[in-house]
Amino acid sequence: MADSTNVLALEYPILPVLAERRSPRAYTSQPVSADALNQLFAAASSAASCFGEQPWRYLVGARETSLEAYDKILTSMGEFNQAWAKAAPVLAVSIAKLHFSHDGNPNAWAKHDVGQATATLAIQATELGLQIHQMAGFAVDKIQAAFAIPAGYEPVAVFTIGYPGDPAGLPDGLRDKETAPRARKPLAEFMFEGTWPGLKDERYDQAPV
Ligand SMILES: Cc1cc2nc3c(=O)[nH]c(=O)nc-3n(C[C@H](O)[C@H](O)[C@H](O)COP(=O)(O)O)c2cc1C
Repeated sequence: MADSTNVLALEYPILPVLAERRSPRAYTSQPVSADALNQLFAAASSAASCFGEQPWRYLVGARETSLEAYDKILTSMGEFNQAWAKAAPVLAVSIAKLHFSHDGNPNAWAKHDVGQATATLAIQATELGLQIHQMAGFAVDKIQAAFAIPAGYEPVAVFTIGYPGDPAGLPDGLRDKETAPRARKPLAEFMFEGTWPGLKDERYDQAPV
């Protein structure tokens, strides 16, 4: 069932699944089936990548079937993220292969392509009634050590996967974040047709996130 909580309203119409994708902190306890997980990562693999390198790798920990990995990912997170992420039935780590396979040169687009793959996974998740929440708030070295990740591969982000739950169950501060209206910068602040904005437009560089 589509997630109808806090759907994004923009200046122009976009695909419903894009507007419905969001980063929840409340999850139901419903596990994610192996089939659904496979669909998510198949969707990730459909992304474009520089030289077709497909530099993305994912480590997955499901509470029901791979608790040890789940705990390793959870404990790599900062306390703020652990507090809500532990409600999600599945945790994952995106990892970039940093060099091209065909010539061994550094792949400057590796993290770009990992981001594209995870963004595609997120849309597939929304389509299946799931949501993911990506995080930078984790310790890269803890993931590297816990999973013995070899040189040449770098953890990029961790993320939850789960069915969105009732925000009412969250602590006060987080509930407010979950239900606050979502917004985006207007196109005029990031889409510059023809020229980079001149001095009179410098405020664009100071737009709030
Ligand atoms: C690379 C990345 C890192 C993020 N890190 C965190 C994080 O550490 N903790 C957190 O609560 N949210 C984190 N977020 C979620 C963003 O805050 C969220 O995507 C943003 O506020 C937009 O909300 P939306 O995804 O619901 O549209 C991260 C998102 C991305 C893409």
